[in-house]
Amino acid sequence: MAVTILAIESSCDDTSVAVVRDGFVLSNLTAGQDIHRAYGGVVPELASRAHQANIVPVTDQAIKRAGVSIDEIDAVAFTRGPGLLGSLLVGTSFAKGFALTRGIPLIEVNHLQAHVLAHFIKTKNRLAKVPGFPFLCLLVSGGHTRILVLRSHLEMETLGNTIDDAAGEAFDKCGKIMGFPYPAGPLIDELASSGNRKAFSFSKPVVRGLDFSFSGLKTSFLYFLRDRIRDDPRFIENNKADLCASIQHAVVSILVGKLIKASVTTGISDVGIAGGVSANSELRAAVTAEAEKRSWNLFIPDLSYTTDNAAMIGITGYFKYLRGEFAGQDVVPLARY
Ligand code: KG4
Ligand code: ZN
Repeated sequence: MAVTILAIESSCDDTSVAVVRDGFVLSNLTAGQDIHRAYGGVVPELASRAHQANIVPVTDQAIKRAGVSIDEIDAVAFTRGPGLLGSLLVGTSFAKGFALTRGIPLIEVNHLQAHVLAHFIKTKNRLAKVPGFPFLCLLVSGGHTRILVLRSHLEMETLGNTIDDAAGEAFDKCGKIMGFPYPAGPLIDELASSGNRKAFSFSKPVVRGLDFSFSGLKTSFLYFLRDRIRDDPRFIENNKADLCASIQHAVVSILVGKLIKASVTTGISDVGIAGGVSANSELRAAVTAEAEKRSWNLFIPDLSYTTDNAAMIGITGYFKYLRGEFAGQDVVPLARY
């Protein structure tokens, strides 16, 4: 019998709701929050208020677009964490209320695991090609930079983590320094396409093993600009594309370097990228080139499943449903999962 999951994602600044049936996405709707653009980052208090306003209408639309009746929903999956507590509370409380009134199971989902499991979402065009296990995945987002290994759908191990900023944060902070609105990653990517990646170089961090560090790079970028602006107040404006290409190249080479190291040390050749920064065109091109060189079985997510979305919560919920892994009504969100 078909299993239909209603999935709720509210960990940061996107209110997303999906309906997933047997691993296929029937609908996946996201209400973003433009309000944060002016502040240079997500303002937690404003994020939770916006989730509160959006969650019911987005759910209503997601169910309608999926073309299912509310009676067909077998379980509710929701993001338990990690994320902003006020934001998580909205999705968690809504999911609990929905499950309770419908008399259906509740499934708690780890947001990071969901980003990786987005690779197992079935679409009409991608029925066959899903990663085999073990699956090595670089998860890069605004809040996280990790190298993870999935040993099965629900067994995940962290091999490397950032010791300070996340990769997306590095893009966003460097963008902020150049006066770009939040989130700056997509704009840096766009401007970089007409720039020279070798125009400027910044000091690269030396971090042992498979861990990452990006805060030194950001500081090096800041000091570099401060010095140049002293001589030429229009330096940023006159060199925007080259600055974007150079900083993007610095971030991408750190990421790809560690992913290669992880694949070599573990011997794993099913390799993927996930999370908001996996939308980056240089990163996508760089891992594609490495995959050819190293005979990786490479997995790059569709753009719609790179940034935060509820479809990935739905697919994770589906695997947990099959294992009967349900949460009680006393479950609470975890800012740090
Ligand atoms: O996964 P995500 O939507 O949210 C978190 O869980 O953090 O990732 C958002 C991050 C932001 O830092 C944003 O600047 C970055 O992903 N991002 C990009 C691109 N698209 C989104 N960074 C670089 N290039 C992009 N094309
Ligand atoms: Zn995320």
